[in-house]
Amino acid sequence: MATSSLVTIFSFLFLVSSNLAADPDMLQDICVADLNAGVRVNGFACKPAANVTEADFFFQGLAKPGAATNTTMGSLVTAANVEKIPGLNTLGVSMSRVDYAPGGLNPPHTHPRATEIVFVLEGTLDVGFITTANKLIAKTITKGDVFVFPRGLVHFQKNNADVPAAALAAFNSQLPGTQSLAATLFAATPSVPDHVLTKAFQIGTKEVEKIKSRLQPKK
Ligand code: GLV
Ligand code: MN
Repeated sequence: MATSSLVTIFSFLFLVSSNLAADPDMLQDICVADLNAGVRVNGFACKPAANVTEADFFFQGLAKPGAATNTTMGSLVTAANVEKIPGLNTLGVSMSRVDYAPGGLNPPHTHPRATEIVFVLEGTLDVGFITTANKLIAKTITKGDVFVFPRGLVHFQKNNADVPAAALAAFNSQLPGTQSLAATLFAATPSVPDHVLTKAFQIGTKEVEKIKSRLQPKK
């Protein structure tokens, strides 16, 4: 092969490999390094093949409506991720079912590791997400409709009707992770300092304390 052809091929391979090089997607919220451990893993270690059964790939937890009326927001998310279905490990997909009481809200939240696509099983929902340019993309969707929440963007669903609603959500991650904005900022442990929240939200300490007390997890 001519030298010029080899140079062209190597230049092409270099360009392709440098353009495709990227950190692998993370599969857990945090992974504090144990520099002495022999095992390196992003996700969960695999159990021996001899111990794998059909139960590792099976889950019935989405079959029945969750008790949304008993929650503060009037919504309940039931996840079907790798924590419930061990067979999902490394497969990059998962689901959840969301039930909404009349007036129920799945409050603004993000999934750091997944895009979400929802399918309305029952009822009508006001849904939306906000882009990083702060544009709200919102729509009212109803039984049989599908809507997409791009990865990492803040989104919500509200059931404004006086009958219950339900949706199925699919994610391109085995463990999408959920950060609910209000709870993240006002119910973290340890608490986010009041002076951070008063400045960020341009409100007084009294208001911050009031929101914090309202959002405390129920004991
Ligand atoms: C809905 O947004 C969900 O995360 O299940
Ligand atoms: Mn979501």
